Order: sequence, then structure tokens, then C-alpha cells
Amino acid sequence: MKAIVYTKYGPPDVLQLKDVEKPVPKDNEVLIRVCAATATAGDCEMRRFKIPILFWLPLRLYMGLRKPRIQILGQELAGEIESVGKEVELFRKGDQVFAPSSARFGAYADYLCLRSKHVMATKPANMTYEEAATVPTGGLNALHFLRKGNIQSGQNVLINGASGSIGTFAVQLAKYYGAEVTGVDSTEKLDTLRSIGADQVIDYTQEDFTKSGETYDVIFDVVGKSSFSRCVRSLKKNGVYLLANPGVALMVRGLWTSMTSSKKVITGLASYRTEDFFS
Ligand SMILES: NC(=O)c1ccc[n+]([C@@H]2O[C@H](COP(=O)([O-])OP(=O)(O)OC[C@H]3O[C@@H](n4cnc5c(N)ncnc54)[C@H](OP(=O)(O)O)[C@@H]3O)[C@@H](O)[C@H]2O)c1
Repeated sequence: MKAIVYTKYGPPDVLQLKDVEKPVPKDNEVLIRVCAATATAGDCEMRRFKIPILFWLPLRLYMGLRKPRIQILGQELAGEIESVGKEVELFRKGDQVFAPSSARFGAYADYLCLRSKHVMATKPANMTYEEAATVPTGGLNALHFLRKGNIQSGQNVLINGASGSIGTFAVQLAKYYGAEVTGVDSTEKLDTLRSIGADQVIDYTQEDFTKSGETYDVIFDVVGKSSFSRCVRSLKKNGVYLLANPGVALMVRGLWTSMTSSKKVITGLASYRTEDFFS
């Protein structure tokens, strides 16, 4: 089969289209023919390996110390089940599914195997493979963080990096929960933000939302590029600051802020559950 392989960390041209061995499903796995996969920020971070210091060594040991040991990236996919292992009961050959990849990535390939009990769902008939492939990372992360922030109807919610993979889902979910949503991203993406329901938009290349004097119940900083202390100041009393992309220093400051004020800072990795695809 064909796969996009990388054998050294670096810029996009380390990615090469190669012939590799087609995987064979174990008894508890399904073999999926990949119809669509995405290029996420997370894939790019693994490829170039510019990682916050706390995570650098453990992740590097996992991904490959001197060169990538896991050589096929791709964190999410949609495709058709080509065959199933003999213990598999949940899925059948021909099922159209979407899923995040396992911790071994692998969606940049014609085929990959996943455990049948992995986070995976049948693709709704009215979604294309391309649409479904974008849901696992963006959708599940956005849902995870907004739930952690206990988002409520009527709250003022600001999403920084609102036009990206996680951000576009966060805007739509926050609207679904009944919030008044401000989306922050670059100039050319503001129309998209309005089209998916943002009530207000801010162009980060023109304006720093932390300097406007506005305050919010929830600030979800998806990209992690705003000033921590100014974000905390931009929260209302009892406000929540959600950080999807923190370094060590911010995690420590977050903990301190949560312990010493009415404001709460929530960081960490999102956990994925199949039932969240349906909630
Ligand atoms: N905690 C977790 O479990 C978890 C899971 C998955 C991903 N992540 C992390 O979350 C981060 C975001 O992921 P993603 O997939 O949503 O990324 P993405 O698709 O690249 O979206 C990021 C968006 O932010 C915009 N942006 C860049 N600089 C900005 C700034 N200074 N202010 C406001 N917006 C800015 C980008 O636009 P332009 O660059 O075009 O301006 C882009 O639209 C990544 O670092 C990823 O590793 C965390």
C-alpha cells in the first residue's frame, strides 16, 4: 500500500510517498481503507518536533529519540472497513466509520488497523468522508474543554484560534450551549467565523482582545498565544480559562491562579470517548 512516511524530524518536505507493507488486523481489530485524513496542528508538531519542554523527552522517547520510530503520521480518519478480526462483533466489512487514530497515528496511509473497541463510530450517511474525518480531533477536544469549563447558556465565551480544527467546533458547540460567542482569528477567517455562528469576531492581527477592557465568563485559548495574566484579568469573577496548548510554566501558573482566586484555569489533555460522537 501507499503511505506518507517520514524518517527524520523537520519541515514538510521530510514527508515522502512510499510503498509500505499493508497491515493485517489482529483478532480484535478492524482493517480500515482510509478515504480521508486530515493534516492537523498536532501532526505538524510531531513532524517538526517543536514541543513544550515538559513533554519533549517523554514524547521524544515515545516517537523515536534520534529519528521517528512511528513513521506514519495522521491523527484522524474516515474510511470503510475492509475486513475484521475473528473476535470483532461491533463492526462488519463495508461499514463506513470515522475515528481518531490510535497512539501510533497511521492515518496517512491507504489502510490502518484499529481495535474494534477503539473510539470509533459509524459515519452518518449525510456526511462525506472528508467532513467526518475532521470530527475526532477538533470535535472531541472542543467538547472536552467546554464541558470542563461547565459552559452555561447566556455566558460570554471567547475562543482564541476560533477558525482552526478545535476552534470551529468550539464556536458551534458554545452556540449550541446557548453562549454569546466571540471568535478570535486572522483577517481572512472572520467570515467563516460569522458563518458558523460567532456573534462577535476579533482579528488578532489588528487587535489584542486582552486589551479591550471586555470581560468573559469563559476564555478558551485553543492556540495558547495570548498573555496568561491578561487573559486571567479578562475573565469575570468566577470565570474559567481553558488552555488546550499550555507549557509547564502556564500549567503551574494556572494551578496557582485556581488556588488563590475565584477564577479557574483548566489545562491538560483531552480524553476521547465513543459516546461523545453522539452527545
Ligand atoms: N490538549 C489537547 O488534548 C490537545 C489536543 C489536540 C490539539 N491540541 C493543541 O491545540 C492547538 C490547536 O490545535 P488546532 O488543531 O485547533 O490548530 P489549528 O487548526 O492550526 O488552528 C489554530 C488557529 O489559530 C489561529 N491563530 C494562530 N495564531 C493566533 C493568535 N496569535 N491568536 C489567535 N489565533 C491564532 C490560526 O490561524 P493562522 O495561523 O492562519 O493565523 C488557526 O486558525 C495545537 O497546538 C494542538 O497541538 C491540544
